[in-house]
Amino acid sequence: MHATATERLIHPARNIQGSLRLPGDKSISHRYALLGGLAEGATRLTNFSTGADCASSLACVKALGAQITRDGNSVEITGAAGHFTAPKQPLDCGNSGSTMRMLSGLLAGQATGAFTLTGDASLSRRPMERIRKPLAQMDANIDLTDGHAPIVIHGAPLTAIDYTTPIPSAQVKTALLFAGLEAQGTTTVRESVRTRDHGELALRAFGANITRTKNSVSIAGGQSLHAIEAAVPGDLSSAAFFLCAAALFPGSNLIFDDLGLNPTRATLLDVLTALGAHIGVLNLETKNDELVGTVQVNAPPQGLTGTAISGALSAQLIDELPVLAAIGPFTQNGIRIRDAQELRVKESDRIALVAANLRAMGAEVEEFDDGLDIPGGQTLHGATIDAGGDHRIAMAFSIAALRATGDTLIRGAESAAISFPEFFDLLDRVAER
Ligand code: S3P
Repeated sequence: MHATATERLIHPARNIQGSLRLPGDKSISHRYALLGGLAEGATRLTNFSTGADCASSLACVKALGAQITRDGNSVEITGAAGHFTAPKQPLDCGNSGSTMRMLSGLLAGQATGAFTLTGDASLSRRPMERIRKPLAQMDANIDLTDGHAPIVIHGAPLTAIDYTTPIPSAQVKTALLFAGLEAQGTTTVRESVRTRDHGELALRAFGANITRTKNSVSIAGGQSLHAIEAAVPGDLSSAAFFLCAAALFPGSNLIFDDLGLNPTRATLLDVLTALGAHIGVLNLETKNDELVGTVQVNAPPQGLTGTAISGALSAQLIDELPVLAAIGPFTQNGIRIRDAQELRVKESDRIALVAANLRAMGAEVEEFDDGLDIPGGQTLHGATIDAGGDHRIAMAFSIAALRATGDTLIRGAESAAISFPEFFDLLDRVAER
């Protein structure tokens, strides 16, 4: 088989060994970029995400009046000191739902003009009513096109609300907290499942006063932000692909330095432990309230067991479910996933694509509206995989390919650069063949 520029041929591996320091967390990089863009002063970030998504956030705040200088993974953002300027051109959010949803919250209260947010074909299909509805309750003037982008926002004075999110979403929570910064009164967001809290921690780092209880977060309006200096922790959702790969090969040994270990993100480590993998965590410290540490993973000699993931766990593992599903056939008892309907409205319909691609590799799999049943004890063969333009599908099946018989061709492999451009190079570095 021969791979073109948008394809990647993955050979099976014998083992996974090595030590990695990963580019900065995507969720944290977005939030630092957006808040740095609005803050007063020069925000200096190191180990900023190298993904195209976070570059979209930087480009948007630049178009809104922030100054950006970038040197590799180091970024300096001179913020707009509380007042964005409405650009003549639409704000292009690319493939990034995080940019579009969180920036909408930040722009809703900017009474300086009208803002149009657009995205690529995938982003233009994704649901935006989930931010329009609560922002409109705050008196924002925000229009969608059939529930989707383009989004048009006429900045307006906002009123605080007390809102319970109907579906767990850190992007929606963060959008509302960002809008709350500029609203009159105190905005409270309540959620039934505690989603990732990088928005709260970033607001605090930039000097905002935020109060939290177990299920709610409140922010008073009228607060201004000041610039920060920060090193972005390594991205645990990018590490997930390598953690799962290492967990598959008895004799593996993989170490990650400076990895983000925020407890609202680290559920994968518990799942891998429950599957029998050995996970060691060392050198814990906090940086701007974000937990960072060294992680070591070794596979169990007898292979991974199996598990069922549902309820709150599905929400907390949402970005890691594709790779967990992709390694499901190699476990002893399989992996069952439920309550994960949100996977259908990500960059692709991830339930459908995971099922189709597992079947292409010869696996048995059952698909449900809200999940998948993947029996264990299966042998997969190399196949042609369609990533459907979705970075996490391209990377998840590159991991399954390591344990298949024969080579696997990943079509749409270039999409990995949305979150993790270094993925294939690092995979070649740690995979022993
Ligand atoms: C993210 C939240 C999640 C996640 C996405 C990043 C964030 O999306 O899937 O990759 O940074 O807040 P939802 O808020 O739609 O669940």
